[in-house]
Order: sequence, then C-alpha cells, then structure tokens
Amino acid sequence: MNRISLLTVSVLCAAAFVANAQVGGKVDLSKLPPAASKTPVTYATDIKPIFEKSCVRCHGAEKPKARLRMDSLESVTKGSEHGAIVVAGKGAESKLVLSVARITADPDQHMPPLKNRAGILPLTKDEVSLIRAWVDQGAK
Ligand code: HEC
Repeated sequence: MNRISLLTVSVLCAAAFVANAQVGGKVDLSKLPPAASKTPVTYATDIKPIFEKSCVRCHGAEKPKARLRMDSLESVTKGSEHGAIVVAGKGAESKLVLSVARITADPDQHMPPLKNRAGILPLTKDEVSLIRAWVDQGAK
C-alpha cells in the first residue's frame, strides 16, 4: 500500500469513528414516530416516569451502563461515557430518541436491549413520540 492510500484509509477510519460516536451507522428516519403534539412536555411530568420504568434499572446510581445515568434531568443531559445523548431542540438527531425508537443500524444501540433479564419491554410508539417531542422542545 502506498502512502496516499494509507492516508485515505486512516482518514476514512477516523470519519467512521466520529460518526459512530454520534449515532452509530445508518438510521432510517422514515421509521421514527412523529413528535407528540402535547405542549409543554416536561421531564418531571412526562419523561421521568418512562425512564424510571424502562431505563433506571441499568442506568441508575449503581454501575450505570455506558456510564449513563437516567435518574435525573441533569444526568440525562450530561450524557454517557461517549458524550451527549440529547441534542436539545433536535429529537431526530439525538441518540436518546434514535435508541428508544430502535432504528439505529446497530441493534446493540436499541434501548432497552431486546433481551434483558429484567424483562423490560421496548417503549411504545406513544412513549417514543413523547420523548421526541420533549427533546424537540428543548429537553427541560
Ligand atoms: C437491561 C439493561 C438496560 C436497560 C433496561 C436500558 N439500557 Fe441503555 N444501555 C445498556 C447497555 C448494556 C448499554 C451499552 C451498550 C453498548 O455499549 O453497546 C447501554 C447504552 C445506552 C445508550 C448509549 C450510550 C452511548 O453514548 O453510547 C443509550 C443512549 C441508552 N443506553 C439509553 C437507554 C434508555 C433511554 C433506556 C430506557 C428506555 C435504556 N437505555 C435502558 C443497558 C440497558
């Protein structure tokens, strides 16, 4: 391999790595449920109960997966060991929304994981719509 193609390969790998830190490969946005029409959607009223039911078991105070805690508004907006999971104002670009909608190419990013010992079920379309609306409205 000559020097130029080696450089090209390194650049492509670096680009792939950066893309992966965001959402991990291709996402079929046509499958993303629309944002709920409710306003306002707030963490305290609408979102916290969903996270408590479906996420905190693995993303709580004790050994949180991916170092992501979902048990307070501050921790959700802080993100994981890989960085932010919420882009305030942009639900369709947020890792949080794409993972619960289960539309990332990598099924390891579907949350909650399909097979989990706790028996936690995937979120309903209405729950995904509500989380999308919450992020669209600024994640407050
Ligand atoms: C049964 C355990 C379990 C449950 C329940 C669960 N997760 Fe996860 N979550 C994981 C694991 C394990 C990882 C790390 C996956 C990996 O690194 O490939 C993870 C990673 C993530 C990530 C990626 C973090 C990053 O930046 O890479 C997000 C976002 C996430 N979870 C959100 C949620 C949300 C939202 C819920 C609830 C709707 C949830 N998870 C429920 C186990 C769980």
